[in-house]
Amino acid sequence: MALQTAIVLAAGEGTRMKSSLPKVLHEIAGRSLLGHVLHAVNQLQPNDLRVVVGAGSEEVIAHLAQIAPKATTIFQETRGGTGHAAQLALADKASKGTVLILAGDTPLLTADSLKQFVDMHSQGKFAASVLTAEHSDPTGYGRIIRDDNDELLRIVEEKDASENEKYIFEINSGVYAFDGEKLGAALGKLTSSNAQGELYLTDVIGILKSAGESIAAVVIEDFTETLGVNDRVQLAESAAMIRDRINEHWMRSGVTIIDPTTTWIDSTVQLAQDVTVHPGTALFGKTTVASGAVIGPRSTLTDCEVKAGAQVLESIAVETVIGEGATVGPFTYLRAGTQLGDLSKAGAFVEMKKASLGTGSKVPHLSYVGDATIGDGSNIGAATIFVNYDGVEKHHTTIGDHVRIGSDTMLVAPVTVGDGAYTAAGSVITEDVPAGAIGISRSEQRNVLDWVLRKRKGSKSAQAAEASSGKKKK
Ligand code: UD1
Ligand code: CA
Repeated sequence: MALQTAIVLAAGEGTRMKSSLPKVLHEIAGRSLLGHVLHAVNQLQPNDLRVVVGAGSEEVIAHLAQIAPKATTIFQETRGGTGHAAQLALADKASKGTVLILAGDTPLLTADSLKQFVDMHSQGKFAASVLTAEHSDPTGYGRIIRDDNDELLRIVEEKDASENEKYIFEINSGVYAFDGEKLGAALGKLTSSNAQGELYLTDVIGILKSAGESIAAVVIEDFTETLGVNDRVQLAESAAMIRDRINEHWMRSGVTIIDPTTTWIDSTVQLAQDVTVHPGTALFGKTTVASGAVIGPRSTLTDCEVKAGAQVLESIAVETVIGEGATVGPFTYLRAGTQLGDLSKAGAFVEMKKASLGTGSKVPHLSYVGDATIGDGSNIGAATIFVNYDGVEKHHTTIGDHVRIGSDTMLVAPVTVGDGAYTAAGSVITEDVPAGAIGISRSEQRNVLDWVLRKRKGSKSAQAAEASSGKKKK
């Protein structure tokens, strides 16, 4: 059934977060708290989506422009209560049809639960419906007051509740569906004669009930969906639950996750069947991992594309493409703009940035490769440095196909090494090396004979040298 209006209340200060960031912008699994709520709400395809903002409104509005450009933002200057926020949200036009209202700090609510709830509300033609939950510790929540026939009478806030009412374990989740016109009329009747001196949206329920309207209260199956985030402890608790949900989803889709409690996958990540994720691994942002790839242990990939059968061991990569069957790590740092060709290798203690490595090419050990293009089948010897920065500007290095760069080569950019060329170990290459040539740039070796025997007389080195010359004489 069509949803006319969805209103998300997100003007609260979130004081208990003790943060310079507005509460609803704190993130879990790569999405803001508000982003999680909007992601669920958007799946109900409301014709009209409104978000009430207040504290930190500039940042929240800028964020909304990115994640929900179609949402209308409504500014609540001072906290007048949830009823006041709803009044502002509906002030410009009376809403016909169903109005869904919920808070911006309940990231665990699923689209499925919201859909079921709105369908139940529409089918029953209720004036108002409240989603409730049974909590073992209901402290702080509004309590659901039912009559002898189990019908919802009203909602009482913790601060206004009598001692007896505080023993009610059924709480108000803060998710409501209304008949728009009836809501509009009831909002006009709210007063602030309560413990907090605010207009309570919850009072609308009692008002409609007294007017003889039909009200529904449905208990949600899984109460954890209604958990809100008010401080950093709850942020971590909700994050762990969302992590578990995401991991369960991928495991059920054919991904092996060795240790789900230490594996953090953003909700925006895509994994193929038969991917394996080892412990301590985090996959962030728009990362995609193709079939057969093995990631981890202890690896962090942000906005990366990992192709089929690739392996990443104990490494960090950002905005990197890792080719089919390529291997990375251990202890490799791949920065933005790295492209590893199929079957290529970026080995231990290698850092790369804005560099592409051709098919089957290898940088096996201890190198820095910045601002470079490397062809196919080439090998970059251990401890090679692409000297890309002259202190003022960055320069590019081009390496051809089937090149052999000797160990400990300094490639001082801009410089080109042609196809099939070699460089001698320890060379500082400042001039282009033509195809097929070997570039050598180092001083000739001179041995000063018996230097140790003369200058380090009696040392262990001298003794060893003497013994060695004795051995040779025999
Ligand atoms: C509210 C409910 C309570 C329910 C609980 C569920 C009321 C009076 N009480 O209490 O019954 O059990 O949620 O979590 O509604 N907000 C505004 N403007 C305001 C005040 C609040 O936009 O002037 C927003 C907040 O940012 C928040 C939501 O409304 O997202 C709920 O407000 P909050 O202060 O957290 O209400 P609770 O005391 O938790
Ligand atoms: Ca709250």
